[in-house]
Amino acid sequence: MGRGLLSEKVAVVTGAASGIGAAVVERFLAEDARVIAVDMAGQSARPGLVTITGDVADVATWRRVADLARTEFGRLDVLHSNASTSVGAPAHELAEADWDRQLAVNLKAAYLAVHTCAGLLRESGGAVVLTSSVHALVGMPGHPAYAAAKGGLISLGRQLAVEYGPAVRVNTVLPGPILTAAWEGIGEEDRRRSVASTVAARFGRPDEVAAAVTFLASAESSYITGTTLVVDGGWTAVKDSA
Ligand SMILES: NC(=O)c1ccc[n+]([C@@H]2O[C@H](COP(=O)([O-])OP(=O)(O)OC[C@H]3O[C@@H](n4cnc5c(N)ncnc54)[C@H](O)[C@@H]3O)[C@@H](O)[C@H]2O)c1
Repeated sequence: MGRGLLSEKVAVVTGAASGIGAAVVERFLAEDARVIAVDMAGQSARPGLVTITGDVADVATWRRVADLARTEFGRLDVLHSNASTSVGAPAHELAEADWDRQLAVNLKAAYLAVHTCAGLLRESGGAVVLTSSVHALVGMPGHPAYAAAKGGLISLGRQLAVEYGPAVRVNTVLPGPILTAAWEGIGEEDRRRSVASTVAARFGRPDEVAAAVTFLASAESSYITGTTLVVDGGWTAVKDSA
C-alpha cells in the first residue's frame, strides 16, 4: 500500500474518459487510490482502475457503481461527480428536451450519485466533490440550462454537506477556462478573449483542477465542507470594463 494522499481509499470519478475527469483519475491513482472510472465513452482498465461505461443521468449506472464498490472493494471513500453536457442556445430557442438533458446530466446525476452511494460514503467517512463552473456565478448569453444546473450544484453541495455531515464532507469546484475537448469548436477570438480575462493570462490545465479536487477529496481538507473552490486563474476576479 502506497503513502499517497488517497492511500487505501476507493474513489469514483465521472466524465473520466476526457479532460478534467481523466486528469483526476491520473492524480487519484498517483495518490494511491483505487478508482472506478465512469463515462459514456469506453475506457481501458489497468491496475487500480475499474471502468464502467454508462450514462450518469441513469440511476442504473449508479446502482452498478455502488454494487461494484461494495463487491469489488468493500467500500467507497470519494465520489467526484464531474461529467457534463452543454447545448448552447438562448432560452427561447433551446428545445425542452435539451433543457431536460442538461439538467439531468449536469445536476440530477449528483443527486443520483448520493441517492445510491450515501450509505457507502457514510460507512467510510467519505468526501464528495462536485464539478460546477464559473457559469454558476456569471451570466453568458446562450447557456441557460448549463448555468442553472451549475448554480444548482453549489446549493446541492451545501445541502448535502449539511445532510450527511459530519460523516461525509461535500464541496464543489468551479473551474474557469480549462483547455479540454469541451473547447473544441470554440473559435480563436473567443479563446483569446477568455484567456485575456484571466489574471493568469493563460488557459488552465486539467491537472490544475485535479489538484484542487484531490485536496478536497483528501484529509488535507478535513475541516472544509459545504463550500466552493474557484479554479479559474482569476477569471472571476477581473472587472474588465469601466
Ligand atoms: N473545460 C472547461 O473550461 C470547464 C469550465 C468550467 C467547468 N467545467 C466542467 O468540468 C467538467 C469536465 O469538463 P471537461 O472540460 O473535462 O469536459 P470533457 O468534454 O473533456 O469531458 C467530459 C466527459 O464527460 C463524459 N460525459 C458526458 N456526458 C456524460 C454522461 N451523461 N454520462 C457519463 N459521461 C458523460 C464525456 O464522454 C467526456 O468524457 C464538467 O462538469 C464541465 O462542466 C469545464
